[in-house]
Amino acid sequence: EPIRLEDYRPPAFLIDTVELDFALEPRTTRVKARLAVRRNGDHAEPLVLDGDRLTPISVSVDGRALAPDEYTLTSESLTIPQVPDAFTLQTEVEIDPEGNTALAGLYMSGGRFCTQCEAEGFRRITWFPDRPDVLARYRVRMTADKARYPRLLSNGNLEDAGDLPGGRHFAVWSDPFPKPSYLFALVAGELDELADSFTTMSGREVALCIYVDPGQADRATYAMDALKRSMRWDEEAYGREYDLDLFMIVAVRDFNFGAMENKGLNIFNSSLLLADPRTATDLDYERIEAVVAHEYFHNWTGNRITCRDWFQLCVKEGLTVFRDRGFSADMRGAGVERIKAVKALKARQFPEDSGPLAHPPRPSSYVKIDNFYTATVYEKGAEIVGVLKTLVGGQSFRRAMDLYFDRHDGEAVTVEQFVACFAEAAGRDMAAELRWYEQAGRPAVRLSSSYDAAARTLTLDFAVEPPAVAGSDWRQPPIPVRLGLLSQSGQPQTFRFQGEGTDEALVVLAEERTSVTLEAVAETPVISALRGLSAPVDLMIEEPADNAYARLAGDPDLYNRWDAAQSLAKRLIVGRAEGKPDEVGERRYAEAVGRALEDANAEDAFKALLLAPPGLPTLIQAQTPADPSALADARAALIRAMTDVLGERLEALHDSLAPTLRFSPDAAQAGRRALRNAALDLLAWRGGEADVARAQAHFAAAEDMTTALGGLAALIVIGGQAAEAALADFHDRWKDEPLVLDKWFTMQALDLRPENLARIEALAASPAFDLRNPNRVRALVGTFSQSGSPAFHHPSGEGYAFLARQIAALDPLNPMVAARLVEPLGQWRRMTPRLAEPMRRALEQVLATPNLSKNVQELAAKALGDP
Ligand code: ARG
Ligand code: ZN
Repeated sequence: EPIRLEDYRPPAFLIDTVELDFALEPRTTRVKARLAVRRNGDHAEPLVLDGDRLTPISVSVDGRALAPDEYTLTSESLTIPQVPDAFTLQTEVEIDPEGNTALAGLYMSGGRFCTQCEAEGFRRITWFPDRPDVLARYRVRMTADKARYPRLLSNGNLEDAGDLPGGRHFAVWSDPFPKPSYLFALVAGELDELADSFTTMSGREVALCIYVDPGQADRATYAMDALKRSMRWDEEAYGREYDLDLFMIVAVRDFNFGAMENKGLNIFNSSLLLADPRTATDLDYERIEAVVAHEYFHNWTGNRITCRDWFQLCVKEGLTVFRDRGFSADMRGAGVERIKAVKALKARQFPEDSGPLAHPPRPSSYVKIDNFYTATVYEKGAEIVGVLKTLVGGQSFRRAMDLYFDRHDGEAVTVEQFVACFAEAAGRDMAAELRWYEQAGRPAVRLSSSYDAAARTLTLDFAVEPPAVAGSDWRQPPIPVRLGLLSQSGQPQTFRFQGEGTDEALVVLAEERTSVTLEAVAETPVISALRGLSAPVDLMIEEPADNAYARLAGDPDLYNRWDAAQSLAKRLIVGRAEGKPDEVGERRYAEAVGRALEDANAEDAFKALLLAPPGLPTLIQAQTPADPSALADARAALIRAMTDVLGERLEALHDSLAPTLRFSPDAAQAGRRALRNAALDLLAWRGGEADVARAQAHFAAAEDMTTALGGLAALIVIGGQAAEAALADFHDRWKDEPLVLDKWFTMQALDLRPENLARIEALAASPAFDLRNPNRVRALVGTFSQSGSPAFHHPSGEGYAFLARQIAALDPLNPMVAARLVEPLGQWRRMTPRLAEPMRRALEQVLATPNLSKNVQELAAKALGDP
């Protein structure tokens, strides 16, 4: 039943052109397709096309209607045994967009038609070889009622449009670039437009249009600005120019994922497109900027060059995430952006990579490809591109990318072909680097050192250990380790490496053991290794526990500085959770963080990150076996130590950062708001009268959503009447704004009180909760089950049972989104026995659901199975 990489075969037939004709009706849309089909190679195989939930009307070959015995239909395919080597296939089917609750293929959202075809949605529209290595030119005609669906959009350029009898109208779109079916898109409905234009580096004028729900065009201005900056950046950083005369983005309310890079017609989840200061947080702005860039960058890494098959997904996704991170770093500052990226990687990808759902960035088998749009494919995929860049250097990286674009434009490629461009640019073999893509799990790197004071040399000994999930055939990929040295007080130290004076060295671990010697080392140093997380590995340094304080004090590598604080906090919290409280250590930690807050050179955004102790999902990864409620208590104790030591400074910080400036979503102002919220949050845990009043005033005076949510979060920490009043107030103000109401659900799901499940159950049963809207499901059920909250991890097992029921209820409607909810249950082996057992039972409960989708079945079975 699983599909395997080794079984890949080139398509038996190719399609040169596709002509589609849609007669759009919500319940009965007719789709006529006319395909120019050509046999690929010398064989006599039948034509087999994919199809799913299509009601067949007719099939004809070269204009002759086939009799029922001349083809076979199954629930997933159309087979025609006898076909010429080249011919025209015409089919007509009927589909039901309104009944399409899976939101894959053609469906309705907010009364408008829209599509989502990646990965295998096109087969829900028409019969087709629905695989990424069949590239065709598309011409699309559609007709619809003009009053209800005034805008008719598809990929490429508008060729023709006009009125038809009976109040209908039509449009014809044609896309000159051959593309795989997953990049097809169609939108029809009433939409407002925000228009702009961009002049490319070669002087071509491109019209830009963002389409949104009526009345929302103002909320698209930030996305438009981000789009223009993305277009410019891709020209400057990668030499990539946009290729059509028109680029469109449409925002839709009901969307399974973040956004989709359909050629010339990106479709976005409205939560990742619409923003104004009153309704969007700084994080929303930051994500909008990143996702607009991501989808735009796909035009080259994804569309012009696509994947040969879905196993190669990270050749477009990992690379495009790497590119959008580069953009964000240039827009917002590399140091803080790197911390945020690694924080997300550690929170989402690391657990996946160490648990039962671990898989290589290029998987070797799958049941449903939708289950492999994972943090591993995206985030670790991006890390690997970073590793390649570090290994070959910046100049060779750019040459490799130029070569890639040059050589593979218009093709569907493999990971091997991508890496081959690096090998060629670097002038060496890179077969060992390929292993990063082929193996699951994270290697561990053990670093020990010895300092010879007389010789002033430091010897570093690295030992690499295979990942826990690795099989016996594991082979080590080259691991780049960037490192520097600090004095005991945290001042950067220079040294000599390979004959050169420097403040940073790159050591590549190609073998299980590597030893290097640094010279001219003035004093016993503190090592700052794996700077910027230069490879996705676990680093274990054998060093005095205090060394992390030196890194926290002054590591010029911002990521390592932040990571030092995180690891100190983790050690204290896990220690206390295991019955070994260290009050002296907690105060010392608080004082060290306090000193960092006074660093005049550090950005506010960095200080905000430093101030927040690790969250429960991270802490759960740090304790074996994990006990979330003990961790939550220990975390609260560390925060109390912080407010004991830093209380007055946090109050002063909160006051001094009061918003004085007119709102702007830029990184500097966002950092200021983040720091102010972080101070407020810590003070809320103290919960004194003044703290309640401060949080209430902060919330009441908020003019932007970041500040409002900071106040609401603090009041939820405080709890009681203060929290209820604020939640009611927020609800009254925002109940008619779906994207803001999502935040109201999210905030309540983040309440860490063990008794919070009753509230979550009530919210899930309330009329505003809607299983058909993925954003709402993620806001409540997704957040609750991923928050690490003691309410989810309740010893009664009721939190897990609640999740199992939600998965079972959602599965018949939307299997893709239901499957995404399974992941937290995959952590059962990590948990303390009294939680592991009910968690495992919840997985069994999911698997016992009648008519379970393949999507949920695949993940739940894996999550339950042996690691
Ligand atoms: N290609 C889209 C993006 O990353 C995501 C598509 C998600 N599709 C899926 N079946 N999970 O930009
Ligand atoms: Zn993508």
